[in-house]
Amino acid sequence: MGKVYVFDHPLIQHKLTYIRDKNTGTKEFRELVEEIATLMAFEITRDLPLQEVEVETPVSKATSKVLSGKKLGIIPILRAGLGMVDGILKLIPAAKVGHVGLYRDPETLKPVEYYVKLPSDVEERELIVVDPMLATGGSAVEAIHSLKKRGAKNIRFMCLVAAPQGVEAMQKAHPDVDIYIAALDEKLNDHGYIVPGLGDAGDRLFGTK
Ligand code: URA
Repeated sequence: MGKVYVFDHPLIQHKLTYIRDKNTGTKEFRELVEEIATLMAFEITRDLPLQEVEVETPVSKATSKVLSGKKLGIIPILRAGLGMVDGILKLIPAAKVGHVGLYRDPETLKPVEYYVKLPSDVEERELIVVDPMLATGGSAVEAIHSLKKRGAKNIRFMCLVAAPQGVEAMQKAHPDVDIYIAALDEKLNDHGYIVPGLGDAGDRLFGTK
C-alpha cells in the first residue's frame, strides 16, 4: 500500500491558507502555488541518495557530499499541474518535464488520455506526478496508468489538497505509489469539489471561469 505523507511545515500550511481564501486573486494564487510547490519539492527530495566526493576548500581538503545523479522527472497533469512545475524546477533545475493531458468523457465520465509526451528514458527516472487537487482520484489514477504503460517504474504523486476518496482510489489502483500532500481535507461535495478545498485550481491559476 502506498504511504501518505502530509507536509505540515508551517510555511506550507501558512501559504495554503491564503490559496484557500476565495478573495485571493489569480496573480497571488499562482505565486503561492509555485512557492508551495518549491517547499514541497524540498521535502520530497529528502531521501535522494548522496555520494561522497573530495573537495578542496580555501583551508584544506574535505570529504563532502553531492547528489549521486539520480535522474528525476516531473509530470504535471494538464492543466492545473502546470502551476506546480516552475516551483519544483527552482530546486531541481535538471529534472526533465513530461506532460499528461486527460479529459473527462461526457458519457462514461471516465478520464481519457489526449496528450502524453514523456522524457525518452522515462523507465530510468524517478517521476513526480503533480496535480494540485486529488479529488476522486480518477485523473491521477489514469495518468499513472499512462506512465506505467510507457515503462515508468518509480513514481510518486504530489498534490496540495487531497480528499480521502482520492487517496483511497490511488492506494487501491497504484499501491506502489507514495502520495505527498499539503493537506488532507474532509470530503467531496456532490459536484466533485473538495470540501473545504480551494475551488477549481485550474480556473484560479489561469484566471478562467
Ligand atoms: N479539482 C479542483 O480543481 N478542485 C476540486 O475541488 C476538485 C477537483
